[in-house]
Amino acid sequence: MTLRRVLAVLALGAAIISGSATAEPIHHLANGIAAEAGSVKTRVTALTPSIVRVRVTPDGKFGEDASWAVPASVRRESVFVSATPDGFRTSAVTVHLDPATLQLTLADLAGKTIITDLPEPLRFDGHGFVLRKALPIGEHIFGMGDKTGVLDRRGYTFTNWDTDAPGFTPSTDPIYKAIPFFIGVGDAGASYGLFLDNSWRSTFDFGHRNADAIEISAQGPIDYYLIAGPTMADVVRRYTDLTGKPPLAALWSLGYQQSRWSYMSDAEVRSLAARFRQEHFPIDVIWLDIDYQEKNRPFTVNRSTFPDMRKLVTDMGSEGIRLVPITDLHVAYLPKQGYAPFDSGIAGNNFVHKADGSLYVAPVWPGPSVFPDFTRASTRTWWGSLYKDFIDDGFAGFWNDMNEPAVFDTPTKTMPLDNLHRIETDDFAPRTATHAEIHNVYGMQNTRATFEGMKRWRPDQRPFVMTRASFAGGQRYAVTWTGDNSSTWDHLRLSVEQLINLSLSGFAYSGADVGGFTGGPSPELMTRWFEFAAFTPIFRDHSMKDAPRAEPWVDGPAQMAIRKRYVEERYRLLPYIYALAEQNSRTGDPIMRPVFYDYPDALDRGCDLSMSFTLGSKVLVAGPPKPESPEPFDICLPTGGWYDYWSGQAVTQSKLTETPKLDVLPVFVRAGTILPRQPLVQSTMETPNGPLELDVYPGPDCSGEIYFDDGVRTSGPSLRQDIQCIETPKGIALRFGPRQGSYRPWWKQIEVTVHGSKTARMTIPDQSRAAEILIAAAAQ
Ligand code: GLC
Repeated sequence: MTLRRVLAVLALGAAIISGSATAEPIHHLANGIAAEAGSVKTRVTALTPSIVRVRVTPDGKFGEDASWAVPASVRRESVFVSATPDGFRTSAVTVHLDPATLQLTLADLAGKTIITDLPEPLRFDGHGFVLRKALPIGEHIFGMGDKTGVLDRRGYTFTNWDTDAPGFTPSTDPIYKAIPFFIGVGDAGASYGLFLDNSWRSTFDFGHRNADAIEISAQGPIDYYLIAGPTMADVVRRYTDLTGKPPLAALWSLGYQQSRWSYMSDAEVRSLAARFRQEHFPIDVIWLDIDYQEKNRPFTVNRSTFPDMRKLVTDMGSEGIRLVPITDLHVAYLPKQGYAPFDSGIAGNNFVHKADGSLYVAPVWPGPSVFPDFTRASTRTWWGSLYKDFIDDGFAGFWNDMNEPAVFDTPTKTMPLDNLHRIETDDFAPRTATHAEIHNVYGMQNTRATFEGMKRWRPDQRPFVMTRASFAGGQRYAVTWTGDNSSTWDHLRLSVEQLINLSLSGFAYSGADVGGFTGGPSPELMTRWFEFAAFTPIFRDHSMKDAPRAEPWVDGPAQMAIRKRYVEERYRLLPYIYALAEQNSRTGDPIMRPVFYDYPDALDRGCDLSMSFTLGSKVLVAGPPKPESPEPFDICLPTGGWYDYWSGQAVTQSKLTETPKLDVLPVFVRAGTILPRQPLVQSTMETPNGPLELDVYPGPDCSGEIYFDDGVRTSGPSLRQDIQCIETPKGIALRFGPRQGSYRPWWKQIEVTVHGSKTARMTIPDQSRAAEILIAAAAQ
């Protein structure tokens, strides 16, 4: 940078860290380094060998070490590092810092750059900062939560600001969630992650204005984490080591769910449930949207339309159906009217105030409303207490909507930025904070309060909370959906991209309103949507008030038959999906993944992967990239061998051309897989009647895993068993590992099907101990 340029920038009130003759040396710490250039100080420390935290302050003083996303216990982790002249080394990475410019480089131990700063790495302009990182040619960018647009974020700028976005389009930004985390993927899938732990509005430009630069700007602290791979799985696992892994969800939440704004009465819910059962269309959950309430007031029930909620919940339970009601955060402003949530909230000083100290009141569904101050631990406890009666009624889970928070009749769609929150929680110093700082974590703290309330009132069962808004780390408390999408083919496509990127951003459980929220889908669109959604983590059909009805049967028996076949397939696959959910809770590996998560060679093969994804590493869904088009499309299968899921036949080519058929979504299974499946049930409350099914797709490293528990309890016995398949001179044999855990499964027998050119099927007794059983030869 020329001197003239420095002076010009300074004249604009900005400062750029650049070369300085008076640079202090680097100070070595046990777990990293510290350095200062003028008044700018930085501290780079290793939490683990592969996770490095970077903090920078422009004025010499670091702010408090506190975070909504990364729990204190995790932030306190550290490893000893080896000092090097310009930085340090861990057992996995090296860190280099130029003390004059504070230019930072993370490299691997072989010296290959993982991520590096640009020559002017930092800018401050009096309002906030800009961080500048190099974006090498060919690098792809993923993550950033529910952002719209494209699977690969390169070439775009995104703003992190939780926003109620009804009618959003594939180019709307920001929408509901703010997850300032991305994964860069370079040559041969080499990946790293960057998480900016900053709740303020932030902007990430991935080579948009400058093709070679990632520019990150925000107000608030510069506090970020660099996460080394080298694989994408390493990065996602480590990101969830930092921000938390979703707790294992209740099995029923992986079943089919039916929603609408709104099922208006007890009678309507009952007849809906009866229709599902009459059609033998599997279902686990019916949702109650705002109209079950009295005048849209949270925690009330309209007794004229729902006279006996507890009885309804119980009766539905005996049909194998659970109910999940909406409980929005805006509490109706009803002073002295006997509305308990308002009265108890006011008594405990639980609501957000304006800058002048008065109560903030603004319109949402109930009319004038007040907003809980979820940044106070005591407010969260109070909020959680509001759930007691509903939990006693037996509701299975709760839906936290509008929690950006959405506010009507204001151009900003939310509360004033100078509203005041009181932070009294975790390891934060107690203080007031403006809404500008808290906005992005507001929804997340709302779900935390709900989650903790559920845990308190029903400690033996896994809480279930669905949220619209959230922040990094919100996956610890809630599952999510993509908000008010539309009934268009574009939105079907968008939903797959969103769910893949949400999965990479820690939210392993996410779904999109099947069929689209607004507009009413064509029969073909609805059917295709069912097919895709059957393989996505949360599978919920939801539609807007006054939109055409969107239950599975509305387009007649032929369309319904296809939809039902996919829902049934979902239920048969639940043992596999549930084992993935359990794996996610331990490792952070998502349930739904981009194909290149496990198969990096898929990334640059020239096939459009935007409608392809895998469920775990073994099942690959390769949908038509233009789902509305009758044109043939190409499917690139990662190297290594695949079987057609529907026929069980081995696929010999690695590139296929497929002609779209409405009733077929191409699905493949990796060669070398044992897929656990179960007999069809109509609800997860029903015990499968028949053997456990093991579908064997022979190939290299052939293996599978079964994991079961009772599906709802927080603790209790489980069952885990690894199975391998090996080719012996006499045929395929299954090698059952020792069974861990004392959970007693439903099956007495196991039905094994070996796929391939000749299908072999054999029923064997349950294998609760280590054993090796010859299958194929015996079946021939
Ligand atoms: C919001 C939600 C939508 C819900 C509606 C009424 O628009 O996103 O899902 O149906 O509010 O509660």
